Amino acid sequence: MTSDLQQVSRLAELAADRVTRDANFVELVATYYGLVNDIYCAGWGESHHFPPFNGEATLQEAQRAVERRLADRAGLRPGMRALDVGSGVGGPARTIAAHSGAHVTGLDLSALRVRQAREKAGEAGLAERTTFVEGDARSMPFPASTFDVAYSFQAICHVPDKTRVHTEIARVLKPGGVTLGYDWLAREGLSAEETNRFIEPICRYHGLSHLSSPRELTDQLRTAGFTEVRVSNAAGEGDLEPVWKILDEVNAMAGSEEITPLLRFMLRGTLALCEAARAGHFLIGVWEARKPTALPERG
Ligand SMILES: C[S@@+](CC[C@H](N)C(=O)[O-])C[C@H]1O[C@@H](n2cnc3c(N)ncnc32)[C@H](O)[C@@H]1O
Repeated sequence: MTSDLQQVSRLAELAADRVTRDANFVELVATYYGLVNDIYCAGWGESHHFPPFNGEATLQEAQRAVERRLADRAGLRPGMRALDVGSGVGGPARTIAAHSGAHVTGLDLSALRVRQAREKAGEAGLAERTTFVEGDARSMPFPASTFDVAYSFQAICHVPDKTRVHTEIARVLKPGGVTLGYDWLAREGLSAEETNRFIEPICRYHGLSHLSSPRELTDQLRTAGFTEVRVSNAAGEGDLEPVWKILDEVNAMAGSEEITPLLRFMLRGTLALCEAARAGHFLIGVWEARKPTALPERG
């Protein structure tokens, strides 16, 4: 059996630079979430995304509020089908299914997380209103024109070829369907030096390929065939400082000699996040776009 120490060493090898991360993407994500899943669930609960706060008292309340707002913005209601891309252990999917009455299908690369999402949906009495499927967002196991809405919370940043994910989303959405969500982005116009100093450690210590800029995300959505593309900064929806303050408390452990190699690895990532966010180099992007009812003729 591989020890935790060996697995953390393997994770560090896989995550060392973008070329290695992209060449080993599936193993990287499996190894990263295999190691961090319990810590994420203990610390963050069942939703693993950073929400802008609007006066909510806790992280979990702020996450639920963002999830419900997204469902309302998408116009989800009973009888509709939504896809959650990179659904994790299913917190957002359960909130959105319960709030909107729509059916939500969660897709995630991690078998462990899909299994836990199914168990938690059963416990919450939402097994009929949710389905969790193991699979890769770059090649989705769904027929064309299946969903009315596709959304994602802070998952596509993991993937090397993000245009391919948006193209798959466009394929599985019905004509006129909406895609929307939140993702980790890098500020527009960062120099190579700034990217290397502020963004690269975020990617290395969170199992991410790289971060797109807002303009790159806009281009990815347009290339995938979407219209009415809108990309903005989640800071416009609320205050993200409470998130960085929570991470400051976690980061305070960094000085301790007691912490495990895994926690030391993770803390390098949370320290990098707080530094880049407060320097204005890292942002949570928000997008919304529509699949045309008739695709333009090509050629
Ligand atoms: C930060 S977690 C967010 C989970 C969930 N959206 C939430 O907010 O709780 C990112 C998730 O994306 C999943 N993921 C990464 N790459 C993926 C891919 N190519 N296809 C499907 N899921 C992917 C990971 O396994 C992980 O569960």
